[in-house]
Formats: sequence, C-alpha cells, structure tokens
Amino acid sequence: MSEYKGNFNTKIGGLLAAVGSAVGLGNVWRFPTETGTSGGATFVLVYVFFMLILGIPIMISELAIGRYGGKNVSHSFFSMSGNRRGWALMGILPVVSGIVLLSYYSVVAGWIVQYLYEAITNQFVGKTPEEYATSFINFSSSTTRPLVWLYAVLLLTAAIVAFGVRKGIERSSKILMPILFICLVILVVCSVSLPGASEGLTFFLRPDLSSLSGGVILSAMGQAFFSLSVGVCCLCTYGCYFRRDADLIKESISVASIDTVVALMAGLIIFPAVFSVGNIESDAGPSLVFITLPNVFQQAFHGVPVFAYCFSLLFYLLLLVAAISSSISILEMSVSIFVRKYKIPRPTACFALALLCAVLGTMCSLSFGKWSHVTLLGLGFFDLFDSIVAKLLMPIGAFLVCVFAGWVVKKNILQDELTNAATISQPLFSVYLFIVRYVAPVGILLIFLNGLGLF
Ligand code: PHE
Repeated sequence: MSEYKGNFNTKIGGLLAAVGSAVGLGNVWRFPTETGTSGGATFVLVYVFFMLILGIPIMISELAIGRYGGKNVSHSFFSMSGNRRGWALMGILPVVSGIVLLSYYSVVAGWIVQYLYEAITNQFVGKTPEEYATSFINFSSSTTRPLVWLYAVLLLTAAIVAFGVRKGIERSSKILMPILFICLVILVVCSVSLPGASEGLTFFLRPDLSSLSGGVILSAMGQAFFSLSVGVCCLCTYGCYFRRDADLIKESISVASIDTVVALMAGLIIFPAVFSVGNIESDAGPSLVFITLPNVFQQAFHGVPVFAYCFSLLFYLLLLVAAISSSISILEMSVSIFVRKYKIPRPTACFALALLCAVLGTMCSLSFGKWSHVTLLGLGFFDLFDSIVAKLLMPIGAFLVCVFAGWVVKKNILQDELTNAATISQPLFSVYLFIVRYVAPVGILLIFLNGLGLF
C-alpha cells in the first residue's frame, strides 16, 4: 500500500474517493441523455433496478478483489484465484477501458469548462432557448476551442494523478460534494416549478412498459455500470488502496445510494425544464444538458440576474470538480498497472497515457464537426467509444467479475474479505453470493446477447 496510502488513510477517504469516481458526468450528463433517447421513465425504472440488483454486488466484488491483493488489479485476480495465470490478464481491462473512456469523457468535461467560462463572462443572459441550442451546436462542432479545453482537462487530470491525489480529493470532496448536492436540490425545486413542468415529470417518472426492448434494457444496464464506475475494474483499482477495516458492503450501498439520488435529481432538473420550453426535443442526445441547463438558470432566477450569474457559475464549477474527480479515477485505473506492476515512474505513465487520450479524444471531439461524416458501424468516434465502453467492455467486465467472485474464488476467502476476517458480521453475505453466482452472470449474459440482437 505504498504510494496511495495517504489518499485512503482514513475510512472516509476510501468512501469519498469511490463517491468521487461514481458521481460525475455519468449522472448529470449521460443519465439524462440516455433517458431522453431510450424512452424516459421505463428506462429510469430498469436503471434503478439494475443499480440495486447488479451494480451494488459488482461493486462489492470489485472492492473485495482489489483489496485482497492490495497491489494492482492483475495481481489481485491472480492471487485471489489461487495463482491462476489466466486471471492475471484481467489487468488488461482497466488499461484499455480507461484509455477509451477518458478519451471521450474529457471531451464532455471540456464542454463543461467552456460553459464555466461562459458563466464567468456572463454570456447566458438574454438568449432565447433556440439561441442556447444554436450556440451549443456551433461550439461543439467547431474545431479549436473544444480541443483546447479537452487538452486542458487531460493535462489537469494527468497532473493531479501524477503528483498525488492524496488529501486533495479527500478534503475537496468532503466540502464540494455536499455543496453540489445543495445546488441540485435548489435546481430541482426551480425546475419543477416552471410552467408546463408536469409533462416532463410524467416523461421522467411514469413508465410505459410497452416501450421496453432489448436495446433499452442493455442501455439501462450499461448506464447503471457506467454511473457506478463498475465493470471496468476502476473500483477494483481503488479497492487495492482501501483500508483493511473498511466495511465494503456498507460502503458500496452508500456509494450506490448517493450516486442514484444524484442521477435522479439531474433528471428532475432536466426534463421538467426541457418540456417547459417545449420546443426542444427530449431526445436531443449528448447536447440535451448543455442546451437546457443555461436556460433553467435564466428562467429560475429571472428577476434577480445576480443570482442567476452566481448560481450558474457555482454549478458549472462543481460539475467540473465532479467530472475531474471521475476522470482522475479513470486515468488512475490505467496508470496503476503500469506503475505498480511494471514499475514505470508515475509521472511518465500519467503523461504518456494522457497523450494517447489526447489523440483519441481529438477524434471524438472532431466527430461533432469536421469529421462528422467519418463513421464506423454507423457511429461517429464519440458515440462509438461510448458504446464500446458502456455496451461492450462494462457488461463483459462485470460478467467476468461475477464469475470470478462467485465461482473461482473460494467461498471462505471471499467471506473473510467481506467480514474483515470475521471481525464484522455481514448478514447480507448469502444474498450477495447468490446474486454474483446465479442472478448476475445469467442476467448480464442474456441482456448482453439480446441487446446486441444475437437472440
Ligand atoms: N462513474 C463515472 C461518472 O458517472 C464515470 C466512470 C466510469 C468513472 C467508469 C470510472 C470508471 O461520471
């Protein structure tokens, strides 16, 4: 537990780092986007179901596997499997997923920087809803500015991961996460009281089961995994740095609860506002949040411009913090293997990987503009990368983690890890084991194959 000792030195430190990883653009940007394109409330219902039934058990498994080995993901799988070489290959998953994920995640984080800049320079004032839409489309399809912000985000992420996450994350999360939470509550209240908001609430909260399809179920599962940062061994990486006395089941339930509440609040902000404006399609894709939010700020604090100014500034700042704490965890999961297994100096690994992400991220960013005609399997680079992570790597990774925890690891080893060598009681252990053995692997496999249209 050498280098990261400081970071997870306190019990709450591990929890906060996991929350920092989980709460991010996945909640405030990807969740409303997916809800908008996948049929609203039905998607939300399936998402919450997967969060509970699959997300939490997989999170528990990842943390337990990581902490058992305590060095790196590859070593953890190797040692917990009773030294079977094949399982050490699981170390490849976080490296590949981290690179693909960070490449497009930081494009969106870059958009947040632009919106923060616009908030600071007071550019949201006096625009019509159509103008918000046009200004976002013009910005995201341009070449230079999104790329500059993308590189800035990557550089900042690499610098933080290179020079120590230590107390920074722990302390800042302790203060900033609650403030973000309060901001969200205020925005929910404002948004649901906009005229015509009820239609949005219906879209978001009243499921219509006839819209359920294999594709919707796969997307909801992918979103649950994405939002919790599970399936790609990110939490397995953080598990390596966890303290031995942390209660992994309790922590996983806390992280998942916080994460779900934040996502639902984001939905309660976005959809009433979208429907209130009326002329913005609810399935506007990745741009939804960026077009809607500035409008909400202006509408909500109509009479008091100072409020609108301060609030939008604070909101984008906090969103950026949430995005950065997630991108730190994404970069860390790739970096960790190189540093801890191959003994490459941390700064070298960080900046080399960030450079690679900058190249791939450039392709993603340009897919909204200059390269929009370049498609593979009908998708531009950005959407392609997102689908690879959420619809391919995460389900495959989650399936392997469950098979590993449920069938490969000896039951007493797993039980020992989760009860901290029988020092705490875990009444839910048998429920957990049943899920990772039977429910999760079978469920994930069926949904995965069905979603891909294979049966
Ligand atoms: N959970 C993060 C979010 O919601 C994204 C993420 C996915 C981070 C996978 C790490 C690993 O924004």
